[in-house]
Amino acid sequence: MAHRLPEGQDVRNRYWSSVASDYRSHWSTTHADGKLYARIEAAMLSEFIGASEGRRVLDLCCGTGRNSVAIAMSGASVVGIDGAEGMVEQARNVARERDLENVEFLVGDSRQLPFANDEFDAVVGTRFMYMMDQEEKRRIIQEAARVVRPGGAVVLHFNGFLFGLRHEFGNLVRGRMCRMRDRYLWPGTVGRMFQGLRVERVVGVKLPNLAILERAIGSKTALQVNRLARVPFIRFLCQYILVVARKGGTPLPGIAPITSEERMDCDSVSS
Ligand SMILES: C[S@@+](CC[C@H](N)C(=O)[O-])C[C@H]1O[C@@H](n2cnc3c(N)ncnc32)[C@H](O)[C@@H]1O
Repeated sequence: MAHRLPEGQDVRNRYWSSVASDYRSHWSTTHADGKLYARIEAAMLSEFIGASEGRRVLDLCCGTGRNSVAIAMSGASVVGIDGAEGMVEQARNVARERDLENVEFLVGDSRQLPFANDEFDAVVGTRFMYMMDQEEKRRIIQEAARVVRPGGAVVLHFNGFLFGLRHEFGNLVRGRMCRMRDRYLWPGTVGRMFQGLRVERVVGVKLPNLAILERAIGSKTALQVNRLARVPFIRFLCQYILVVARKGGTPLPGIAPITSEERMDCDSVSS
């Protein structure tokens, strides 16, 4: 699958529609570390939003419904929205194959959501912020903040900047500058980006090469070791970072309490 993404929303939608079936099968054929990442991320999203029956959750840029379906399995009712018809079609197939009636998928733009204010208990979104410029990021976060109810969480996924520096090093050497500022989450930018929300947690999803460790020490211990991904400094060793922000009010019940490490995380990166 190509990593260099076309600019412009229409072109983007066509691109993602054209790779939709590959994208769906990628998650079953990907290497062990990728599968482990997907499993950990889905569990973290559910933990941070307190996914359970009676909750209404929006999954932004849901793609083929990877996380929408995982969250719907907890009993929450989920709406996934994506700009690419092909992706939405695949997502609907996945839900049908699993007989899930508490998840629906819509074609739509995450920068301009077709929902009323305060309509969802939580909003999540993974693996798309890297393709958005600063203005698009601002609009998406503003829309997420509008449709989530007071006390509800917005959980968004970013690429970590250390991973970015390593990943883009080759390009820099060859003089091919990419939009470093847009593609990665830089320390000190989180508070500004999440205006109107209170940033509560900034955590890494999975430590590098955790699957190798999992083979050596077993799944349960590997997942315990992976708690280190939530600790300051260590989190930025991770390729993927989750930012958890809340809209005013008291957190909805059933949400995992913030640990002291996670709280320190927020203080050190919000500005
Ligand atoms: C890499 S996929 C991620 C899919 C899914 N969130 C996941 O983690 O597997 C990025 C998705 O973002 C969608 N997308 C990009 N811009 C969008 C926009 N403005 N509104 C809605 N969807 C958008 C694309 O169509 C594509 O399905």
